Amino acid sequence: MVPGYSIRRVEKQDYEGVLQALNALTTVGSVSKAQFEETVNHWNNVKVSSGPDLLQYHPYVILHGEEVAATGMMFIERKLIHECGLVGHIEDIAVSPHHQGKQLGRALIDHLTDLGLKHCYKVILDCDDSNVKFYEKCGYSRAGVEMQHR
Ligand code: ACO
Repeated sequence: MVPGYSIRRVEKQDYEGVLQALNALTTVGSVSKAQFEETVNHWNNVKVSSGPDLLQYHPYVILHGEEVAATGMMFIERKLIHECGLVGHIEDIAVSPHHQGKQLGRALIDHLTDLGLKHCYKVILDCDDSNVKFYEKCGYSRAGVEMQHR
């Protein structure tokens, strides 16, 4: 980890910090403390399968003292292909503006990727063109095209 910072799973006490950090990514909208806590509770309890004791959601924060400097998620999808293989998805990566450019994004992606590759045959993510170079520096390469239907 970058000196002066630490990383851990998201906890219920991170309500304000996580929502604030996510503003660097997109509009969060109105999320109450109760909704946040219920979501964290869900993340802490849903397992990938009834077999191995593996959680599906891996939400993390990077802290600077008590302050949330960055947040991001890796979640695990259970598939039938590749002999019921697992795929890790990296989502909702955000470094607070005044902490950007300090290698925190890379440290977060490295942590989530290592976690994913312990269990999954691949880890994937979608991003804007403007972030391709950042993810390439984190070891990712272009594969396919993202499409969406809203
Ligand atoms: N374009 C080109 N290079 C970049 C970019 C970029 N957009 N962002 C970072 N880099 C480079 C840095 O210069 C650095 O290079 P170096 O090691 O050669 O010096 C390297 O990538 C690592 O950069 P970090 O300091 O770790 O980047 P940072 O902590 O600022 O995090 C991030 C990057 C996550 C993109 C941050 O700027 C951010 O939160 N942006 C707004 C939200 C966002 O776009 N999130 C990603 C959405 S995609 C998803 O969630 C799957």
